[in-house]
Amino acid sequence: MSRQTIFELAWILPSIALPVAMLVAIVITAFGMQVHVPTNVGVVNAATVDQTPPFDKPGLTQIAPGRYQLVLVARTWSFNPDPNVQTPPTFKVPVGSQVDIVATSRDVIHGLYFNGADVNLMLIPGRIGRLTASFSKPGEYLFVCHEYCGVGHQTMYGKIVVEGQ
Ligand code: CUA
Repeated sequence: MSRQTIFELAWILPSIALPVAMLVAIVITAFGMQVHVPTNVGVVNAATVDQTPPFDKPGLTQIAPGRYQLVLVARTWSFNPDPNVQTPPTFKVPVGSQVDIVATSRDVIHGLYFNGADVNLMLIPGRIGRLTASFSKPGEYLFVCHEYCGVGHQTMYGKIVVEGQ
């Protein structure tokens, strides 16, 4: 082998190995570790989301003792259940509650991240994101949009107040 061939192989082989290694990593995480897009659990027509249950009645509802459903429709730039109000919403639940979060976006890609709770969703128009969060400690849990969605991105937040017994 000439020096030139060795030099070329030294570039070609890593450039093949790198994408192959990434593909293997994707396959292992997707199938071996069950890491996948959490929003892939339902679809909704983003154009008619305001008329489609449960998004026609966004907000917090008690569905059983200690169990709540929180329906959020993200939009530029608020999580307030009232589409005419931009004020960040506050929801109150008793300590120990489980909250089933059902969320989507009616316009652009938003995010939903709860500080201090295990909630991290991408809110994609047409896709439904679902998660159940447990609130075992009293306190205030801020939630924010964590996907940059335009000039009002920083106004997209709200909080869950977990009240003690
Ligand atoms: Cu919505 Cu950032």
